[in-house]
Formats: sequence, C-alpha cells, structure tokens
Amino acid sequence: MYKVREGYFSWILHKITGVSIVLFLLFHIWGMSRMSKGPEAFDAVIAAYKTPLFRAGEVLLLGAILFHAINGVRLILGEFTVWAMEKNKLLAWLAYALVGVLFLVGAYFMWRAEG
Ligand code: HEM
Repeated sequence: MYKVREGYFSWILHKITGVSIVLFLLFHIWGMSRMSKGPEAFDAVIAAYKTPLFRAGEVLLLGAILFHAINGVRLILGEFTVWAMEKNKLLAWLAYALVGVLFLVGAYFMWRAEG
C-alpha cells in the first residue's frame, strides 16, 4: 500500500502537525483568557505576540496547518479512491510541493508584515 519512505515521513509528520495544532489551540485559548483580564494584560499579550519567538512560532504554525490540511486531503482521497491509492507516491510529492510553495509565499508575507 504505502511506499515506505514517503509514507512514513508523511505519517509521522501528520501526527506531529495534528497534535501541534491542538496544542496551539489550547495555548491560544489560554492567551485569550489572559487578554480578557484588563487593558494591561491585553497589551502584555499583544507585546509577546510581536516578539521574534512568537512570530517564528506563527510561521511554524502556518507550515503545520498547511501540511496537515493538504496531506490530510491526500489521505482522505487514498481512503476513498483506488486511483489515489495507486498514485500515492506521486500525490505525496505533489502535496510536499504544494505545501512548500504555499509555505514559502505565506512565510514571506507573514515575516514581512508589521509585527
Ligand atoms: C483541512 C483540515 C484537516 C484535514 C483535511 C485533516 C485530515 C486528517 C486526517 C485524514 C487524519 C487521519 C490520519 C490517519 O488516518 O492517520 C487526521 C488526523 C488528525 N488530525 Fe486532522 N485534519 C484537518 C484539520 C485538523 C485540525 C484543525 C486539527 C487540530 C485542531 C487536527 C488534528 C488532528 C489530529 C490530532 C489527528 C490525529 C493524528 C494521528 O494520530 O494520526 N486536524 N486529520
């Protein structure tokens, strides 16, 4: 079914990105609850979001979401169509290419934007 290399790489990255997005959502809810404590707390959270560490984290989040979503569509196609299962290797490489291009364009604009 799966070719070992692409299949394993995608499998492990799909799990890492899925769990990372859940952790981000929990962290995001915690951040929003801190912000709601008053104007100083709001400004402190916004200031933290503008630091290079957080901005790099946002770029990584973009990559995780892009990979999880696009690879997830490939997995779903492979579950439902014989064609996608047979073309698994090609589709895996197409997914990497699409994720790569969208990530580079997105990361460029995110990093360029005012913090
Ligand atoms: C376009 C949106 C998404 C698509 C197409 C998608 C697709 C998938 C698919 C097909 C699986 C099953 C993988 C397998 O069978 O091994 C999966 C697993 C998972 N997804 Fe998503 N997903 C999406 C969005 C999300 C979001 C927003 C989150 C987090 C909030 C998330 C978290 C997870 C987690 C934690 C798993 C389990 C990982 C594992 O153990 O395999 N996904 N996703």
